[in-house]
Amino acid sequence: MDTVLSGIRSTGNLHLGNYYGALRNFIRMQHENSCYFFIADYHSLTTHPDPKQLHENVKDILCEYLAAGIDPNVATIYVQSDLKEVTELYLMLNMHAYMGELAKTSSFKEKARKQPENVNAGLLTYPTLMAADILIHNADKVPVGKDQEQHLEMTRRFARRFNNFYNVEFFKEPQAYNFGQELIKIPGLDGSGKMGKSEGNCIYLCDDPKVIEKKVKRALTDAGPTTHNSVKPDCIENLFTILNVVSSKEVVQHFEDKWNTCEIRYGDLKKQLAADIIAVTNPIRERYNDIRDNEAYLHQVATEGAEKARENAQKTMRGVREIMGFKSF
Ligand code: TRP
Repeated sequence: MDTVLSGIRSTGNLHLGNYYGALRNFIRMQHENSCYFFIADYHSLTTHPDPKQLHENVKDILCEYLAAGIDPNVATIYVQSDLKEVTELYLMLNMHAYMGELAKTSSFKEKARKQPENVNAGLLTYPTLMAADILIHNADKVPVGKDQEQHLEMTRRFARRFNNFYNVEFFKEPQAYNFGQELIKIPGLDGSGKMGKSEGNCIYLCDDPKVIEKKVKRALTDAGPTTHNSVKPDCIENLFTILNVVSSKEVVQHFEDKWNTCEIRYGDLKKQLAADIIAVTNPIRERYNDIRDNEAYLHQVATEGAEKARENAQKTMRGVREIMGFKSF
């Protein structure tokens, strides 16, 4: 059985793109692998979140994961900062991570450009913290999007470097988890290619139905087709892409036909789209509302998850300390 690890930064709620991208597949495969699912709250510190908000952000994501179907009796779900071993491994890996390679990481360069007033060392060493998350469990596989591939590549490099330097076969080189099919990429409602929290074009899994209706109503459209069977512009293609995911085949066909004969009414399309998004997200929203204030349950899930994760992490750290030459008096 493979060890699979997935993490998400606690900097925003889960949206349709997260769900249909990795999360839904992850929920399916939690039964076939030994899965770790964690909330990367240390990573969220690079942008200096408001201390009053930090815990709420973590709680939101925890509830959303659980509501979406991550089963704490099957997968190990935990909060990164509950696993202090990660910070120790991060420190050690940083001694073998070099300024040059860290500074030329795409994500670092992009962040440094976006927040020039806050190019902190945590931003620079983001990839070593991520490597520590992965290597602490010696994960075989990590489901990552395109934007995280370079980080995974660096994790492999850090693992290899550690093994070579100390002449051991200790860390495994983690591979990208491939769900065996093209990942569904959910586009934004603003005509852009991707739904993303930094794009501000998201429908969140736990958005209120009224909010979903409003957002879909406001989605970008054009003046409508003028010739039969024409190619759809991006903004319309995007709406159809989402429709394809949330609606029945008949519904999709109905609107395809209307498009092809130039009889489509975007108002109708949006109404249907909103209704179907609400229908697929309804069970998640209900479950979320059920558990969001159940402190006892959340405490139990987070504590048990951290305990399970810690067993593994402590074993790894005992090995690392021994290899590097640490000894207790
Ligand atoms: N960097 C990831 C993101 O921004 C989150 C993350 C942190 C992660 N550590 C990880 C993902 C380890 C996978 C494995 O989405």
